[in-house]
Amino acid sequence: MAFFNPFRPSYVQDPYPALKRLREEEPVFQWREQDGWVITRHEDCSRVLRDSDAFSSDPSKARGGLGQYVARGRAQSPLAGAPLIGSVDGPVHTRLRAIVNRAFTPRVIEGEREFIKETAAALLDAGGDPLDVARQVTHTLPVTVISDLLGLAPEERNPVRDWANTLMGVHSDPDATPQARRAAALAAERFRAFLAQYRDHHGPEYDSRLFTILVEAESAGDRLSPEELLAFAVFLYTAGSGPTAMMLANVIAHLAQHPEALEAVRADRSLLRPAIEESLRFDSATHVLLRYCVQETQVDGHTIRPGETVYVMVASAHRDPEVFEDPDRFDVTRQIAGGRLLSYGAGPHFCLGAPLAYLQGEELLDALLDRFSSLDIVRGGLQMGGTFLLRGPERLVITGR
Ligand code: HEM
Repeated sequence: MAFFNPFRPSYVQDPYPALKRLREEEPVFQWREQDGWVITRHEDCSRVLRDSDAFSSDPSKARGGLGQYVARGRAQSPLAGAPLIGSVDGPVHTRLRAIVNRAFTPRVIEGEREFIKETAAALLDAGGDPLDVARQVTHTLPVTVISDLLGLAPEERNPVRDWANTLMGVHSDPDATPQARRAAALAAERFRAFLAQYRDHHGPEYDSRLFTILVEAESAGDRLSPEELLAFAVFLYTAGSGPTAMMLANVIAHLAQHPEALEAVRADRSLLRPAIEESLRFDSATHVLLRYCVQETQVDGHTIRPGETVYVMVASAHRDPEVFEDPDRFDVTRQIAGGRLLSYGAGPHFCLGAPLAYLQGEELLDALLDRFSSLDIVRGGLQMGGTFLLRGPERLVITGR
């Protein structure tokens, strides 16, 4: 019988041998310790993510494992009054998604390009050589971009980010201390007051910003309640910053480790976007996505029952030779067919921020290539970090200016 322990340091260093074994020997593996199933083939992963009738995104539907843990935390959170878009199903999700889709238009996203360019350049120029690009650049850029996209003046960015972090810190944690819960309640109170007065304090120059669009959408027919707006804003900080930071650091590491790919993108910058996609495939920031069975169903001959958690191993699906030729090779000229990359999810919860993530990737890499004539990782300069859910460098020290 197969064995799976993603918490071992050797797995964090290189999960791919373990995932390959599972995919070949037990592609639908019953993970008894976590009351669920680990799914490693692309076809099964893709199907589970798209089958939202049988597989819920709501952790409270889990009867054990990680899902129940998260659900217990959420029941006590100051955000419990409104559903988070990423963990709600059916018509409630459809309605929320329809409203926020109106704000995430291509024009609003494209409107961030100059800000992203300037911020990426400023962060790179502030660092030296060698540069820990993970700590000094890729972790800062996405959160700064979200602050601007939402419509925060520079002096508002740190307090709002701190409120969001404090709230998310307790949101999924049933073991949060009373002190952390008090801090979160205070952060929620301040954030609510800030949103209620947003329009009074922000002039017409903020008309194209998300808070204005979302607050205005409130007075139109279909609207977000103040609690839904708060929950969405907090969720955006988590959904839009961690994964983007990991994606940015991953692609820089992959290019540094593959000199022929680096030369190809240097010679032809239209390969930047394919390089980002290939990097997401090769070692995805989204390592695993969780689903909770709500309808008994079969996956590859195994019966999955309501309450069981399904660990959809995106990282393994991306190395499945049935779908990707020579999957262990990093190849920026690879054509990845639509729908095959699962890093942004699939189905009704497909990532709302994917175009913004690509925009940040393209602009940061462009600015990096302009400043670094070569790109090398210093000895011991790459340290993988993240969690079981999210994978990427915690430290990435590069040189070559
Ligand atoms: C490389 C960067 C990113 C990655 C890998 C990523 C990944 C994902 C994934 C996998 C999901 C679906 C989760 C699920 O189905 O369980 C998702 C949803 C979402 N993402 Fe992203 N994301 C990224 C960047 C962003 C950015 C920049 C934003 C916004 C500023 C964003 C906002 C969202 C939102 C709002 C959802 C929820 C959509 C829904 O539930 O309908 N993401 N993301």
